[in-house]
Amino acid sequence: MPLLEVERLVISFGGIVALGGVSLKSDTQEIVGIIGPNGSGKTTLFNCISGVYRPREGKVIFKGENLLGHRPHEVAQKGIARTFQNLRLFMHMTVLDNLMLGRHVQFKKNPFHAFLRIRKEELIHREVAEEIIEFLDLQAFRNSRVSDCPYGIQKRVELGRALAQEPELLLLDEPIAGLTSEEKEEMAYRITEIRGRYKTAILLVEHDLRIASRLADRMVALDHGLLIAEGLPKEVQSAPEVIRAYLGDEEA
Ligand SMILES: Nc1ncnc2c1ncn2[C@@H]1O[C@H](COP(=O)(O)OP(=O)(O)OP(=O)(O)O)[C@@H](O)[C@H]1O
Ligand SMILES: [Mg+2]
Repeated sequence: MPLLEVERLVISFGGIVALGGVSLKSDTQEIVGIIGPNGSGKTTLFNCISGVYRPREGKVIFKGENLLGHRPHEVAQKGIARTFQNLRLFMHMTVLDNLMLGRHVQFKKNPFHAFLRIRKEELIHREVAEEIIEFLDLQAFRNSRVSDCPYGIQKRVELGRALAQEPELLLLDEPIAGLTSEEKEEMAYRITEIRGRYKTAILLVEHDLRIASRLADRMVALDHGLLIAEGLPKEVQSAPEVIRAYLGDEEA
């Protein structure tokens, strides 16, 4: 059984069909790249999986359970964490506190347990947060306010906040966009490390074909809300439909 099975998702906004029946699968510890030009439906797909949007049709089956209609915090508790293209951090709080808030999902899972053994629980949360700080090389910024950190660091904190949930599936929405080329390499390296270290499957939305191809085991390409290609990265990257979609994007 695949970890995630997305079946024929349909959602539209006014006259625009944002997803017109998109299906995809992801296995445990697999990195699936999702590529496509601006407005092709990549973020909408994440919004449907994570319960932010409710699609008109389709299924989101995670570990055999249909999550459709679940609210975002319920989806998070089931083991799916995500990052946001525009970052969802508490800018006035420290890096460490943002990671601790990521642990909130775990607090909620077992409120009585947490209540009775709150001190021990807190130590565990702290330990997980500290490990993420070390993994993402954030030591120098741990007590800095997020608003005072450079953008490249904020992107790492956004990833850390999602990792703090200890998800089985991680949805990364353009984690590399807007970074310098050095930061891009660094982030790409961290993403490949996540799977071994945290045993997490990753859906990786990435506009940049080259980076997506390098990181992904498999890729799917969207255009105008439709799946236009899927397979091995090198196949998808050079598929005529994909090249056409990206060229069209540049002309627009
Ligand atoms: N809440 C919304 N209200 C109206 N239209 C929306 C909404 N969310 C998405 N859309 C539309 O759905 C389409 C797909 O948008 P989406 O954000 O999923 O694209 P994307 O592939 O993530 O693009 P980008 O690469 O620019 O991030 C677009 O036409 C967009 O305008
Ligand atoms: Mg997007």
